[in-house]
Amino acid sequence: MRTYLVTGGAGFIGSNYIHYMFRKYGDQIRIINVDKLTYAGNLENLTEVEKLPNYTFVKADICDKEAISGIFAENDIDRVVHFAAESHVDRSIKNPEVFVQTNVLGTAVMLNAARAAWEKEDGTYPEGKKFLHVSTDEVYGSLPEGEGYFYETTPYSPHSPYSSSKAGSDMLVKAYMDTYHFPANITNCSNNYGPYQFPEKLIPLIINNALNGKKLPVYGDGKNVRDWLYVEDHAKAIDMVQEQGRLFETYNVGGHNEKQNIQIVEIIIETLQEMLPDSDPRKAHVSKDLITYVEDRKGHDRRYAIAPDKIKAEIGWEPETMFKDGIKKTIRWYFEHEDWMKNVTSGDYQKYYETMYTV
Ligand code: NAD
Ligand code: DAU
Repeated sequence: MRTYLVTGGAGFIGSNYIHYMFRKYGDQIRIINVDKLTYAGNLENLTEVEKLPNYTFVKADICDKEAISGIFAENDIDRVVHFAAESHVDRSIKNPEVFVQTNVLGTAVMLNAARAAWEKEDGTYPEGKKFLHVSTDEVYGSLPEGEGYFYETTPYSPHSPYSSSKAGSDMLVKAYMDTYHFPANITNCSNNYGPYQFPEKLIPLIINNALNGKKLPVYGDGKNVRDWLYVEDHAKAIDMVQEQGRLFETYNVGGHNEKQNIQIVEIIIETLQEMLPDSDPRKAHVSKDLITYVEDRKGHDRRYAIAPDKIKAEIGWEPETMFKDGIKKTIRWYFEHEDWMKNVTSGDYQKYYETMYTV
């Protein structure tokens, strides 16, 4: 039975990946999920799998060398899938240091521990040991409107403390591959959306505010473009890269789905209006009148767009979920999980919202 060490599996993409992997492989795999449970980590995302005999949760910080080496010492880990990170750009602008700590140093700890556990005396690695570093398209910087794409060969040009710290972590992984022939891959993915996403990010924030009749904050002129991918398609890409990709390669993962932020907000409102029955009192306040333009994000990247040509040509992966279907599934999930939203928006999130937004 193959053993996976997943970091950050209690977050948005990590928990969706764990669900995907158990759906696909069932009892053929074992997953150890190591997560510090920061504000973004939520064990409620994993209630469906927590009792499985082939699933283990370990609460630990990826910066804690002893804890991470201990996991490798006690388990014969075959695959590492490294999601754990500070992931929100606005938080990185307010408080950059923790991003360097977790994203750069934490990745260094993970790489060192995996190498120490796996490397043989002759500098080679046992067949089947693989480390996948989950990264972002933001490392490539910003594209002009309507022109060009991010390829694996595009030079790095990060602008925010978040994307710089992710670029730093990518460089470390590249250095380990070049220096130690460490068996790894990097994936650089575009914006994800779907179930279990923390409502500091655009799509769940807008769904939650609209349902509660709160203003819908749009940064700047609302015309910044992101390339949206349904999270399950990302989970599938990660698995396919690890199983079918060439070691030491980077693969860009993207949705072929560019949208301006204002279009996203309008689609959410229209979809909510369609989906809410007339008898639902929330239907009265879900309206475009809630849209409020606010001060722009500092250093706001104008446009991201991935060219997923390499992953399609080499591995056969391509996005499967059309945005019109994915956004409906996502909104339906938030409808059906009101308690999840209540729990994550109580307490600390409320304080965060008040420091970030005056609307
Ligand atoms: P998230 O913020 O929802 O989850 C991050 C998880 O990591 C949380 O469970 C948190 O508790 C955990 N974590 C944070 N610091 C930790 C530490 N020091 N030790 C152990 N665990 C820690 O993030 P996400 O959106 O699920 O993103 C996951 C990964 O995917 C990140 O590396 C991110 O850079 C990358 N990514 C995200 C997107 C996106 O659109 N969300 C797109 C491309 C790449
Ligand atoms: O591109 C991949 C990246 O996508 C990931 O690496 C990051 O972890 C993830 O957070 C995401 O980054 P973005 O900054 O693109 O996502 P966010 O949801 O924060 O914002 C999406 C766009 O919407 C961006 O242009 C800023 C804008 N925005 C965001 C919020 C939260 C608003 O206009 N209003 C808002 O309230």
